[in-house]
Amino acid sequence: MAASVIASTTAFDFTPLLAPGLPPPAVKWNGFPKYNFVGGHNDAEQLPLEALVKAANDVLTREGRTLATYGLSSGPLGHARLREFLAQKLKRSAGIACAADEILVTSGSLQALDLVNGILLKAGDTVIIEQATYQGALTRLARLNVQTIGIPLDGEGMRMDALAASLADLKRRGVRPKYIYTIPTVQNPTGTIMSEARRLELLRLADTYGVPIFEDDCYADLIWDGQRPPALHALSKNRNVIHIGSFSKSIAPALRVGYIVADWTLLARMLAIKTDAGSGALEQMVLGEFCPAYFDDHVPRLTRGLRAKLETLMDALNEQFGTAAEFDDPKGGIFLWVKLPDQVDTLKLFQPALAAGVAINPGPEWATDKDYGKSRTRLCFAHPSHEDIRAGIATLAEVCRREFGVPERIANVEKARV
Ligand SMILES: Cc1ncc(COP(=O)(O)O)c(C=O)c1O
Repeated sequence: MAASVIASTTAFDFTPLLAPGLPPPAVKWNGFPKYNFVGGHNDAEQLPLEALVKAANDVLTREGRTLATYGLSSGPLGHARLREFLAQKLKRSAGIACAADEILVTSGSLQALDLVNGILLKAGDTVIIEQATYQGALTRLARLNVQTIGIPLDGEGMRMDALAASLADLKRRGVRPKYIYTIPTVQNPTGTIMSEARRLELLRLADTYGVPIFEDDCYADLIWDGQRPPALHALSKNRNVIHIGSFSKSIAPALRVGYIVADWTLLARMLAIKTDAGSGALEQMVLGEFCPAYFDDHVPRLTRGLRAKLETLMDALNEQFGTAAEFDDPKGGIFLWVKLPDQVDTLKLFQPALAAGVAINPGPEWATDKDYGKSRTRLCFAHPSHEDIRAGIATLAEVCRREFGVPERIANVEKARV
C-alpha cells in the first residue's frame, strides 16, 4: 500500500516566526460599502475605456514582443514613449524642464514615496509636512520612526510664517529636517492650490535652511479652471526639489503608474533600491500609446464630471447638515475636507456610519495633529454616483445626529416637516 500523508487538522503556526516590528495585519476585504466616500477611487463613468482598448490593441500589435525582456526595450527607468510624453506634458502644464531620462516610472506614486524615503530617511530623522496631509505619507513616516512636524494650512496651502518659525526652531535645536513634503497643487485633503508667490517663498526658506523639497503633484491635472502655477520643481534655481506624480487620478488608480522627476544622480540611487525589476510594462505601454493622442481631451471631461459631483456633495451637505458642516470649495481634485461640530469625533463616527453603509475617512488619520483632525472628515466624491452621494450624506447626517446630537435639525425641508 502506498504511504499516505496524514492530513493535519491544525494549520502551521507562523506567528512566532514573523519578523518583529510588522504593522498590524490588513483587514480582509468584504466588498465596497454602499456609500463609498473613502480612498482615492476615480469615477468609473469617466474612464476613457474605448480609447484605452484601442491603445492596448495598437501598442500590443505593434510592439508586443518587447514584453519578452525585462524593462521592454527601454531600460529600467520605464517605457521610453511614456517618459517622453511626460517630459513634454510636464513642460507644458507645470513648467518643468526635464529630459525623459530624468523621469523614473514607478508602480503608482506610492512606490515613488517609498523610493524617495528609502534613499533619504533613517529612524530618528525629522521631516516637515502639512498639518493635514495624505495618510499614506503619514503611515510610511510613522513606520520608519521618522518625526513629523506639521505646518498649518490656509486657503493657499502651507503657511509660510509657520514654516519659517518651525525651521528656525529646529535649527536652534540643531535639527536639520530631511525634507519638506508638500502637495502644493490641489492639496490632499484641503483642495487648496499654493500661489506662485508662496511657492517662491517656500523655495527661499528651503534654500536658506538647506532643506530639500519633496513635491507631490498627483492631483495637479484635476483643476476646475485648468490654471495652475508652475511646479516648485520648475521654480527651483538649485535643483533641490524632487517631484512626483501619478496617472491614478487623471486616468485610473488600478493601473498603478506613477513617476519621479529628479536628477539622474538621485534616480540612480533610487533604482538601486527599486527591487521589482521594473514596474508593470503593459500599463506603461498602454499609457504611452493613449496619452499622446487622448490625454488632453480626456482630462477636462473628467474634471467637468468631478466638479458636478462636488456640487452635488456640497448641496447634500448644506441640505442635510446645514451650518453643522463647514468646508471650503476646493480648487480641484476628488476630496472635500469637512469640519463637523466640535463634539463630533470622526474616529468614533466611523464605525456606526460604516454599519449604516457609509464609509468616511476620519480626520485624525489625515493630520499630524490629532486634535485638529478630531471633528474633521475627508469625503471622496469621485466614485459614488450623484444619487449615492445624496443618499449617503442623508444617512451620514442621521447617524451623526444619533451618535453626537448634531446636526440638531436636518435642514432638508421635507424631513423637517415629518
Ligand atoms: C497625495 C498623494 N500622493 C500619492 C498617492 C498615491 O497614489 P498612487 O500610488 O495611486 O499614485 C495618493 C493617493 O491617494 C495621494 O493622495
